[in-house]
Amino acid sequence: METVRTIEETRREVRAAKADGKSVGFVPTMGALHEGHLSLMRAGRQETDFLVISVFVNPKQFNDPKDLKAYPRELKADAEKANGVGVDLIFAPSDAEMYPKGAVTFVDQHRLTERWEGAHRPGHFRGVLTVVAKLFNIIEPDIAYFGRKDFQQAAIIKTMAADLNMSVEIKVLPTVREPDGLAMSSRNVHLSEDERKQALCLFRALSRGREMVEAGERDTGKIVTEMKQFIDGNPLARIDYVAIADPDRLEKREQVEPGDVALVAVRIGKTRLIDNMILLKER
Ligand code: PAF
Repeated sequence: METVRTIEETRREVRAAKADGKSVGFVPTMGALHEGHLSLMRAGRQETDFLVISVFVNPKQFNDPKDLKAYPRELKADAEKANGVGVDLIFAPSDAEMYPKGAVTFVDQHRLTERWEGAHRPGHFRGVLTVVAKLFNIIEPDIAYFGRKDFQQAAIIKTMAADLNMSVEIKVLPTVREPDGLAMSSRNVHLSEDERKQALCLFRALSRGREMVEAGERDTGKIVTEMKQFIDGNPLARIDYVAIADPDRLEKREQVEPGDVALVAVRIGKTRLIDNMILLKER
């Protein structure tokens, strides 16, 4: 496995692999790799011949400079983990390599980006879409892998790929959880012992929502109220949003329908966590 810093070297490696007839898998990351990322890489390893990951803390998707500064950066440990699951190439560019002075083009999207995460983090999805589009252009993967924990991000990226006729297949794989249910996230390292315990309220509130649906409740107002009350019972938790939406356009629902997803974003102390759960399986 090799770690390269430039677009030119990355293209050279990927093109050589393609010239050998190899299919290319790609897992974009911001590093601080955990089991969630590794599960995507294992899938890529199984399904494609040449597996590339990117490790790039993308400044354009952070609306809070303190959050950007605090984001964990641990390339050496990341490289060891990636090597362990059989990654072929790590692309770890600098900010200047990805955003040279004078670049003025961004990728943006309407509607889907305006709610939930988009409403709470202005500019976030514009930064995500721009970097993912650039990475797709650099790596030209056959399949790219994303985690379902970032449900809205995955929906937005799928929409971008379809709208812009990108010839990449987007695969979205299940959220990987700690044994007690907390969704794995690079941000979990910031949680103190007490915060870690209270962070479980996201998963528990989602599970409560699903239980209510399983028991026959369909009124999203009632379900959301109960989920919020559950989260508010944790003194360190501050809700950004709790919502039930359709899985494609992420529009708010009044009555739960098959496939609908509950989305939560909660600050636990200074750490902002998101999670989601499908409430009712599609028939
Ligand atoms: O999900 C992430 O880690 C990031 O948003 C991504 C897709 C790597 C783009 O920077």
